[in-house]
Amino acid sequence: MSPFQITRTLPEDATDAALRADVLQGLTATPKTLPPKWFYDAHGSELFERITELPEYYPTRAEREILVDRAGEIAAATRARTLVELGSGSSEKTRHVIDALTDLDTYVPVDVSESALTGAGRALIAERPGLNVHALIADFTAPLTLPDTPGPRLVAFLGGTIGNLLPEERAAFLGSVRALLSPGDALLLGTDLVKDEEVLVRAYDDAAGVTAAFDKNVLAVVNRELGADFDPGAFDHVALWDARNEWIEMRLRSRTAQTVKLPALDLAVDFAAGEELRTEVSAKFREEGVRAELSAAGMELSHWWTDREGRFALSLSTVSLSTVR
Ligand code: AVJ
Repeated sequence: MSPFQITRTLPEDATDAALRADVLQGLTATPKTLPPKWFYDAHGSELFERITELPEYYPTRAEREILVDRAGEIAAATRARTLVELGSGSSEKTRHVIDALTDLDTYVPVDVSESALTGAGRALIAERPGLNVHALIADFTAPLTLPDTPGPRLVAFLGGTIGNLLPEERAAFLGSVRALLSPGDALLLGTDLVKDEEVLVRAYDDAAGVTAAFDKNVLAVVNRELGADFDPGAFDHVALWDARNEWIEMRLRSRTAQTVKLPALDLAVDFAAGEELRTEVSAKFREEGVRAELSAAGMELSHWWTDREGRFALSLSTVSLSTVR
């Protein structure tokens, strides 16, 4: 059997149907919203890569520091033979964990981008003879069926992407992750932490304007996919800290009163001057909150590691014995 397999669990047209449903629902709601998952076409993914290199955007560097420092401890605590990575992208940071897991049999990267999966998977196999890669083209927010591979399993969800989910969505997501785990398996979760408001806002509104371009890219995606006529220049990028919910919001503020046409949805959407469209929530966490959310989903936090400046955390959790069925 080939050490590289790829399984598509998403129908070819699922993305199109999901985008239409999200755009119709979000742009007819009050206030208007669009889900952040639609930022990531080829151009948006490239802009996100540039964001991770900005001086203001600390999460990627902080998480890499923890992974470099703690890969050995993660490997010793889990002894994983299967590593499942949700939203794997380029798999770059995960390499530190893969390299430390000496008994690793199979790496299962899960992503909606087939090109990212193929590129990263083939590179990995070339460098680690004997390792199997079984990539899944799937949306990790939908229920997953994993290939039958040896345990213990380690499921990794890095980057702080869990912060893009609203609290109720997070609870559902953690419940479905819990369902993938058996006793002896573990979850490695990356969470950005609550900190000084100025530091947070600058991370989402950088001086070079890369995040503004990333934010506006969702309009280009809707234009291309649904034939809409958004003028990205007619919107301003806004990043703000919601202190009550402890999350960053990104919004696009309409500079003028305008009407946008979306022929594929047979829809025209009016924006008032100054009206804001919410494009992303990026929640920030505290240790006690992460512990409580994991516990509510039937998992028990066993390790909590932060970078030296205490900006970002990686946690390792196992199945709570009281919930073993
Ligand atoms: C990829 C979801 C972790 O929320 O910080 C970066 C996306 N948005 N800058 C984040 C993002 C604006 C990022 N995540």
